[in-house]
This record gives sequence, C-alpha cells and structure tokens, in this order.
Amino acid sequence: MERIRLHDKTFKICIPHDEILKSIKVVADQINKDYKNVETPLFISVLNGSFMFTSDLLKCLEIQCELSFIKLSSYEGTGSTGEVKKMIGLSQNIKGRSVVVLEDIVDTGVTIECLYAMLKEAGAADIKICTLLLKPEAYKKPIPIDYAAIKIPNDFIVGYGLDYDEIGRQYKDIYVLDPDS
Ligand code: IMP
Ligand code: MG
Repeated sequence: MERIRLHDKTFKICIPHDEILKSIKVVADQINKDYKNVETPLFISVLNGSFMFTSDLLKCLEIQCELSFIKLSSYEGTGSTGEVKKMIGLSQNIKGRSVVVLEDIVDTGVTIECLYAMLKEAGAADIKICTLLLKPEAYKKPIPIDYAAIKIPNDFIVGYGLDYDEIGRQYKDIYVLDPDS
C-alpha cells in the first residue's frame, strides 16, 4: 500500500519491508560478532513498539541469549509527553548481566534515559542500546546508541510496530506522516 489513513491523518510509504530486514541483518551480524564471547546476554525489548523488530532481529542471532520484555510509554498522538510511564516493569534479575535494550525508535531519548537508570540501579554489568530507528536531530541525551539500524529525519512515522494513537502497528512497511494531509 502506498498510502494509509489512520484516525485523522494520511501517511505515505517511506521504508519498505525488505529494506527494514536488510538493515536489521547488518545490526544482527554486528551483535553476533560483539557478543560471541559474552555469557548469555539478556535482551530487553521495550513494548509495545518493539515487538516486530525484536522478532526479526532475534531470528538473525546465532549467539545464546535470553529475552525479556518491559512496557514503557511516553508518546501521545504524534509527540513525546516528556514523561515515561512504566506499564510493566522488569521481571528478571539484572544483577551482573550484560543487557541489550531493544527499542523501536529513539527520538528525544527520555525513554532510554529512564530505562538506562533503572538497569544501572538494578545492577546490570553492561548496558548497550540497540534501536531499529534513530532520529539524530531529536536525540540530545549523553547515553550512547550502540546499534541503530536506520537513521531518519525528525518526522512522525508509523508501521512495523509503531503506532499513531494505538493504531497502525500491524503494517510491515514504515510510513511517514504526509504533511499535506
Ligand atoms: P523518546 O522517549 O522520545 O526517545 O521516544 C521513544 C518512544 O516514543 C518510542 O519507543 C516510540 O514508542 C515513541 N515514538 C517516538 N517517535 C515516534 C514516531 O515517529 N512514531 C511513533 N512512535 C514514536
Ligand atoms: Mg518504543
């Protein structure tokens, strides 16, 4: 589909599925190399947005790893509220673990900053951030983004797990808000 309509807005296709998968493969290859000699890293996927990315990335991993989920929320409509709500917390024992956070998108970075602090507090030995999408113009936090599969301009996007007010997550391609709509 070239265009989709969600609530009151129209979005047009910007990153097709095959391009998403190719970019994920590059990041997965790098993680396979970097974690070859690391004892069972723990991947923590940030719900809801990261479910498709997590699934496709893990299918490309050859290392032994554990997977867990956390649910955080900071977005309303097409913008960040600046406040991170914890909907489901950490269930795993983090102490001494090598953790890789899996995010759908890093925008202002408030979510990553909050989660990073939680993981530090819980005693993680090492924390790396892996995101499918990064908006470099919006991200101003000091925490390094270790793996970013795709860098995008500061536009609002949906699809491949990402939503506009809870709809649009199911599309396999990524769509950008059409400013003329
Ligand atoms: P941050 O805390 O501002 O970095 O934003 C992080 C969260 O906001 C992401 O995990 C997404 O769930 C959501 N988000 C940020 N940008 C977008 C977007 O363009 N479309 C849909 N959701 C977004
Ligand atoms: Mg997210």
